[in-house]
Amino acid sequence: MTDLMQRMVDYANRPNPYPLYEELRRTPVVRQEDGTYLVGTYREIVQLLHDPRLSSDVRNRADAPPASEEGDGMPLSFILLDPPEHDLLRRLATRHFGPPHRPAFLDGMRADMARIVRERIETFAGREEVDVVDDLAYPFPVTVICDVLGVPHEDEPLFHEWAEGIIQPGEATGPEDLEARRGRAEQAIADAREYFAGLAEERARAPRDDMLSGLVTDDGPEGRMSRDEVLSTAVLLLVAGHETTVNMITNGTLALLRHPEVLERLRREPGLIARVFEELIRYDTPVQFVPFRTTVADVEVAGTTIPKSAAVTLVLGSGNRDPAAFREPDRFDPDRPEREHLGFGGGIHYCFGAPLARMETQLALGELVRRLENPRLVTDTPPYRRNAFLRGPRHLQVAFDGVR
Ligand code: HEM
Repeated sequence: MTDLMQRMVDYANRPNPYPLYEELRRTPVVRQEDGTYLVGTYREIVQLLHDPRLSSDVRNRADAPPASEEGDGMPLSFILLDPPEHDLLRRLATRHFGPPHRPAFLDGMRADMARIVRERIETFAGREEVDVVDDLAYPFPVTVICDVLGVPHEDEPLFHEWAEGIIQPGEATGPEDLEARRGRAEQAIADAREYFAGLAEERARAPRDDMLSGLVTDDGPEGRMSRDEVLSTAVLLLVAGHETTVNMITNGTLALLRHPEVLERLRREPGLIARVFEELIRYDTPVQFVPFRTTVADVEVAGTTIPKSAAVTLVLGSGNRDPAAFREPDRFDPDRPEREHLGFGGGIHYCFGAPLARMETQLALGELVRRLENPRLVTDTPPYRRNAFLRGPRHLQVAFDGVR
């Protein structure tokens, strides 16, 4: 069999990787020529997401970088750690993000987020078409994560630049290009850390009602993050919360425009947005695969033994289309009874930002559907980003007759 991973990252398959996944699911556990493993069936992905013998710690990888992925000697952010370090850092971060410690935090942001979306869509008035990526999906999540962390509005343009820099490696076209793009990403991470170091200092002296203030001043029962851990966590939130949400809003807009009957229903029944969101993230998931796991023991899955120290990629985009878990999986159907999609992963690394991602996307899509008159795709073949792992269109031109 030709190397499936190679075909998955082949740019030609970006607009529609789903036929390839059908092939992948014929064998629940696929060994690649280079000794790495791919898993694309729903049941086995769920099993492995919950198996403690699959490590997220980059230091367990055969190709582990000498210090860390985030710069020499810097502490790793919790997405790249295992228990107990992962659990402690995640708990310390959760205290300042939402329930049970700050139940009103995200709800308190809803009005602000709705205003940001409204103002963006108001700038569409008088135009005949917009690029949903550049004009809405791309800038919105950075603004939101800056608000969450407590970055002053005047500094936000810096974050747009850093967010753009950090994703560069995923856009590489070849090994030489990759080197240059990695350099740009490392620089962006270093600059963002330096910025957060200054802001953390300020917030420690004069705390406000934002996440960074909480992280640097909190003395909960489990203590406080070190200053370096705070910086890694802040950068993690920027990275993990940005491109994912951009693709969610863009893939969501594309799917709705390709299913005008659902779009029309959503316009009539705005309350449907919660179900539409869950189906959108299943149907065309922004994080196509989780490439970060390493086995720390032999692990038997569906009759195959994955040996210790193997790299395992869990293909969430494939699991979300597995007919063993979802009836007629290629049909976009917000009424389907099966809801347990893999869009936010599962187990201890289940997406930390899921409540925020839901709120952002529901507000953005809900407002687009409500305000744009007769929205339609300018082309049904939008250009895709090169990134196979965080997959979505680079541009999405939408024409409309006016803004309500
Ligand atoms: C983890 C998807 C938005 C922060 C994850 C994982 C997935 C995911 C699949 C699991 C990764 C793994 O198992 O290694 C998404 C999608 C989003 C989204 C599809 C948008 C629709 C966000 C936002 C934030 C965020 C807005 C920031 C507030 C995180 C963090 C982790 C994570 C910090 C690591 C959790 C851990 O290791 O315990 N996300 N995410 N995500 N996400 Fe999200």
